Amino acid sequence: MRIDGVSALVTGGASGLGRASAQLLAERGARVVLVDLPGSAGEEAAEKIGGDTRFVAADITDPAGLGPALDVAEEHGPLRVLVHCAGRNSDRLRIVTRDHEPGDLGSFADVVRINLVGTYNVLRLAAARMSRNEIVDGERGAVVLTASVAAFDGQIGQTSYAAAKAGVHGMTLVAARDLASWNIRVNTIAPGVFDTAMLAKLRDDLRDKLAAGVPHPRRLGDPGEFAQLAVALVENGYLNGETVRLDGAIRMPPR
Ligand SMILES: NC(=O)c1ccc[n+]([C@@H]2O[C@H](COP(=O)([O-])OP(=O)(O)OC[C@H]3O[C@@H](n4cnc5c(N)ncnc54)[C@H](O)[C@@H]3O)[C@@H](O)[C@H]2O)c1
Repeated sequence: MRIDGVSALVTGGASGLGRASAQLLAERGARVVLVDLPGSAGEEAAEKIGGDTRFVAADITDPAGLGPALDVAEEHGPLRVLVHCAGRNSDRLRIVTRDHEPGDLGSFADVVRINLVGTYNVLRLAAARMSRNEIVDGERGAVVLTASVAAFDGQIGQTSYAAAKAGVHGMTLVAARDLASWNIRVNTIAPGVFDTAMLAKLRDDLRDKLAAGVPHPRRLGDPGEFAQLAVALVENGYLNGETVRLDGAIRMPPR
């Protein structure tokens, strides 16, 4: 798909991987709408990215909440690109606590609600809009979802996060098959350890340890490198139904 001139929606666009993706899409000529939570730095991000970039506050888990953002995106022309990055980190809970109590079910459900149900919500709403587009160069739309290497090598304390991200990986091929009849492609990026706000919450020594665990290059990923792959997945019309690990060959240990 040619990115120049298309309308694109980027969730989690106020920060990290979403913000970098929005920036690169805008540099490539897309008109981008950022979606993020009210109270996020979305407005400031849209201003910094510049051009036609707009911010619309929404919660990705709200069934009706994304409507206004999709409407704003379609003011620029048909929505053809979705890069879905909004998500939350793991709750770091053990299945059985030190006091022999079972892990918190509400916490598990919340991580799954935001990272998995939220992904399906964004996918279904954006794809429904895309299904009305004219076909250009054989397609109506291209979707990039975000999983994590935790989908494959989840660490102790990541039960909810790993389950949710494995769900995103699992839905990728099905969604690509399902949406093939609408000429919409769906791919997923499974990032390793990236230098974003999500990891900034960790202590410096833990961040250094994570970076040291990456075989090559021995550092955290740059959000711009995620954006490069997101753009490649959108541009390459033969890439479909794939989850691509972007991780410097890291394989996470049990803890
Ligand atoms: N940074 C990493 O190392 C890493 C690794 C693997 C996977 N990921 C995944 O990449 C995605 C982006 O993470 P990031 O590192 O850029 O984190 P980030 O915290 O910088 O950005 C995530 C954004 O999502 C937004 N968000 C959270 N819940 C939302 C909701 N309900 N509705 C709307 N917006 C919401 C946040 O406000 C935030 O701006 C997440 O899905 C994360 O799980 C990140």
